[in-house]
Amino acid sequence: MSDLSHIDLNNVPEHVAIIMDGNGRWAKSHGEDRLFGHSKGVEAVRETLKTATELKIKYLTLYAFSTENWNRPQKEVEGLMNLLVHSLSNEVDEMNQNGVRLQAIGNIKGLPEDCQDSLQNAIEKTKANKEITLVLALNYSSKWEITEMVKTISKKLTKNDITENDITDELISKNLTTRGIPDPELLIRTSGERRVSNFLLWQIAYTEFVFLDIFWPDFGRKQFVGAVYDFQNRERRFGMVSEQINIIE
Ligand code: IPE
Ligand code: IPE
Ligand code: MG
Repeated sequence: MSDLSHIDLNNVPEHVAIIMDGNGRWAKSHGEDRLFGHSKGVEAVRETLKTATELKIKYLTLYAFSTENWNRPQKEVEGLMNLLVHSLSNEVDEMNQNGVRLQAIGNIKGLPEDCQDSLQNAIEKTKANKEITLVLALNYSSKWEITEMVKTISKKLTKNDITENDITDELISKNLTTRGIPDPELLIRTSGERRVSNFLLWQIAYTEFVFLDIFWPDFGRKQFVGAVYDFQNRERRFGMVSEQINIIE
């Protein structure tokens, strides 16, 4: 499924989030080291971003580094951070040519200085772009984000800036690092794992999941278009019954 003839371009998800998993196993299966797998993963990111733009998806969130990933061997962590710095500086011109606006979610202040600098630089240079927003989840974990949100809201309560009744679903969303970004309609995870690994727990309340049994470097246009096709053939009921959904449509 690589052509778009089966895709309803008026009904693509506005926001797709992806857990890019399996670089290490891909590398192992090709007799290479893990960092080689991560470099291959960057190529898959490039193709994914191109496909998302073609599909007119407005937000693409990629889980690039979790809070828990710091526990990996130091050599791998350093390699990943270097890859991030290099990829950002290599891609920024092309992002501008293609109308890609870059944003980041997660504990950005906890990243090495050079990563923060290249990230800030790319965010600044691409901030006026309008085709698609690429959101990189870096040093991200949902439990961290939710904990920070609770702290922020508690402070507002203590200072009497808000009362208990002001605590709503919307207020919580506004105090997460994803503020301003719509919740993803579709979440894709590669590598055959069927878990969420501390990603966007609040935001995926009604998200459709697609789990693929391929490693991230093998994810390309065909698989992405296939996942969107799968999404478009599901009935999203949001707690209602099928007949109600069909009336609403
Ligand atoms: C995903 O691939 C990339 C990151 C988590 C940074 P992995 O590195 O987790 O690859 P596997 O899961 O070990 O194969
Ligand atoms: C999830 O992958 C995090 C990213 C893709 C950045 P992991 O490989 O870290 O997840 P687990 O450890 O298999 O749950
Ligand atoms: Mg993994």
